Amino acid sequence: MKKESVTVTATTPYEVRVESDLDLKAAVSETLKPGTAVLLTDSNVGPLYATFVEKVLKEAGWDLADDVLTVPAGEASKSLSVYEGVVRRLARAKTPRGATLFALGGGVVGDLGGFVASSYARGINLVQLPTSLLAMVDSSVGGKVGLDLPEGKNLIGAFLQPRLVAANLDWLDTLPPHEISYGLAEVVKMGLLTGGEFFEDLKRSLAHARAGDTEALQTLILHSVRAKAVVVTEDEREAGVRAILNYGHTVGHGLEAAAGYDLPHGEAVAVGMLAAARLSRESFGTDLLATHEDLLRAASLPLKVSAVEVKRVLDAMGRDKKRFASDAVGEYRFVLLEDVGRPVRDVPVSTDEARRVIGDVLGP
Ligand SMILES: NC(=O)c1ccc[n+]([C@@H]2O[C@H](COP(=O)([O-])OP(=O)(O)OC[C@H]3O[C@@H](n4cnc5c(N)ncnc54)[C@H](O)[C@@H]3O)[C@@H](O)[C@H]2O)c1
Ligand SMILES: [Zn+2]
Repeated sequence: MKKESVTVTATTPYEVRVESDLDLKAAVSETLKPGTAVLLTDSNVGPLYATFVEKVLKEAGWDLADDVLTVPAGEASKSLSVYEGVVRRLARAKTPRGATLFALGGGVVGDLGGFVASSYARGINLVQLPTSLLAMVDSSVGGKVGLDLPEGKNLIGAFLQPRLVAANLDWLDTLPPHEISYGLAEVVKMGLLTGGEFFEDLKRSLAHARAGDTEALQTLILHSVRAKAVVVTEDEREAGVRAILNYGHTVGHGLEAAAGYDLPHGEAVAVGMLAAARLSRESFGTDLLATHEDLLRAASLPLKVSAVEVKRVLDAMGRDKKRFASDAVGEYRFVLLEDVGRPVRDVPVSTDEARRVIGDVLGP
């Protein structure tokens, strides 16, 4: 497979490598001088790949500050208590300021490890080694890192751009197929937002990617990373255009909250995009519903999720009371599509319209 990468031209530019059979030693050595390394992973990924990564880092001349740090797999590790455990381990191991944290895992390890790197000793270097499809296409790129609170997800956080993102496509061989689908939900989102060649490749390659075809996966991951890189470079600190990345996420987040986070994010976003497609048809007259449905089917994503109380979804979606209290038609603001590749943000949507399109994606 070809050596393939995308350069993210953030304030400090960094490379995103996406290859099968990736030469991790070369990728790391080309970017960073060896020093003290911290290797963070989770209890699913660690037993599969940590020994190999540790060996590669040692061969490349790195000293490990401590044993591999392994947190329990799952969202619960994005917590203050797990964070405390990790930073105290770093402190006890006398991890120096110039150290580099390698986050080997999915978005949970990336967000937690990134937040550790942004805050321990006022900041150490971060290298993202994403092992889930979602982490490869979404969470490892863009520099958002953070933790959850019992009061809400991602309420603690920082911006820290990694020095390098290195994704070995072979790592996806052990990822459960439903997790591939969840990552593809974000790929579908990026393809619909971007259009052009990405969208053509999406239609052609999505089902192959879902079946584990490495070339299809590489093509779609690179498109997604490139597209996300463009948006986050333009808006590193999320002041404006980055908001288009919320396509499908307004209803998606509402559904997740209403379901008590029992609903996978990828499924919530999938049906959230269907709701947005219906609203887009009403606002702009372009009917992209069948296009959305075909893509979601190819990715083995649902077209409906089990019923939750619509009122709870609407409440969780959070009306923008401050700005729009007197504006009866614009109680919610959505990212919609005028067409494939033509997102529009801040489109006003009334409670009635929102209620209707949410109802359409609930059911057996
Ligand atoms: N920072 C951002 O910009 C950003 C963007 C999107 C999502 N996120 C965050 O990402 C997190 C979700 O990421 P995720 O979906 O990767 O979840 P995750 O990290 O929990 O990984 C999903 C599951 O797959 C397992 N896994 C990962 N790679 C594997 C592999 N190669 N083989 C076998 N099992 C593997 C994990 O152990 C876990 O059980 C959420 O916390 C979300 O908030 C962050
Ligand atoms: Zn998402």
